[in-house]
Amino acid sequence: MKQEISLRINGEQYQITTAPERLLVDVLREDLLLTGTKKGCAEGECGACTVLIDGEPVASCMTLVGQVQGKEITTIEGLARNGELHPIQKAFVELGAIQCGFCSPGFIMVAKALLDKNPNPTEEEIKRAIAGNLCRCTGYQKIVEAIQAAAKEMAGGGDGE
Ligand code: FES
Ligand code: FES
Repeated sequence: MKQEISLRINGEQYQITTAPERLLVDVLREDLLLTGTKKGCAEGECGACTVLIDGEPVASCMTLVGQVQGKEITTIEGLARNGELHPIQKAFVELGAIQCGFCSPGFIMVAKALLDKNPNPTEEEIKRAIAGNLCRCTGYQKIVEAIQAAAKEMAGGGDGE
């Protein structure tokens, strides 16, 4: 049965009428047209649908929209500021960590959650953080390097290249 659901996404309030058992990924993409979040496996296996819920990376294909009322949801659309890509997005582009791009929003959201908590992660910690995300194009090394570069940039230690 449909009900009124209020969602806070990327700092904005949304009011929708829908069934609370619908998947968050479907509501984001189909109802709110926030299509940056991708739906790959729809079984919690690939990480393409990752969003942040109260700062924690969560598979939005395994999350019911009724469960996230009152929580702070962040999607890939919430990262750029004033038309400027977030440093993690920039690093992914500049270091060739994006090929087809389907997996990229999920990796970038996981990286954001990691760097918010641990601004200077080791390579091992980065690999652990992205372990639940699949990429069939890049071979992962470029993704690890992009997250390392973003960490450096966000710490103010970018070399300006
Ligand atoms: S689409 Fe959600 S984990 Fe693959
Ligand atoms: S860039 Fe194509 S799946 Fe990762």
